[in-house]
Amino acid sequence: MHKSNGTCRMVFVFPTLGIAIKIPIIQIRLFFKRLYKILKSDTPSRHIYQEIILKWYNRASIKKLLFQGICENLHEYFFYLFFKKRFPIQPTYFSFFGLCNVVKAGKPISLSEIEFTSWRKKIFDIVGRDIEEDNHNFECPENFTRHGNDLFFLDYGSEKTRNFLLSHGKKFFGFFNDVGA
Ligand SMILES: Nc1ncnc2c1ncn2[C@@H]1O[C@H](COP(=O)(O)OP(=O)(O)O)[C@@H](O)[C@H]1O
Ligand SMILES: [Mg+2]
Repeated sequence: MHKSNGTCRMVFVFPTLGIAIKIPIIQIRLFFKRLYKILKSDTPSRHIYQEIILKWYNRASIKKLLFQGICENLHEYFFYLFFKKRFPIQPTYFSFFGLCNVVKAGKPISLSEIEFTSWRKKIFDIVGRDIEEDNHNFECPENFTRHGNDLFFLDYGSEKTRNFLLSHGKKFFGFFNDVGA
């Protein structure tokens, strides 16, 4: 078994069982630290509840600290359910309310610096500046795996990645999975 950390999930990989478990990273300490900062800010007391709630919703970072991993796990599960035939995405077998996803184990690709530069250039040639819509994935080849020569997404829980797949997925994987990366 080995463990990898992503931006909002940790992944325990069991190669012999052929599965990996994705667990949301919930940053409780940082959450309370930021909440404390909000509570301490100079909000007029008569509006305090309203202000706190508004700030709470406006500060995406605070929501992210607690719920991002759970949401991405849930999205990955449903996206796979609906689009598994359309896009090469690593199978998500099961999700326990987003708290724990069971997925097929893969071997994240690793590229040398030169390979990475030419890989990014290829992607830029295919999708142009839209690559910037989902920099997180394209800056990190370890978010992809290969089945044979074909490229598969390991990390497709974020809204950016799902939107990217819906707009460019066919063109993108059509190119990579025909000629190989
Ligand atoms: N199915 C898998 N098999 C093996 N390793 C994986 C698998 N899914 C993800 N990983 C590894 O775990 C890391 C974090 O997972 P990821 O889905 O990218 O989480 P996050 O959305 O938090 O970035 C990935 O970069 C990848 O290296
Ligand atoms: Mg990732």
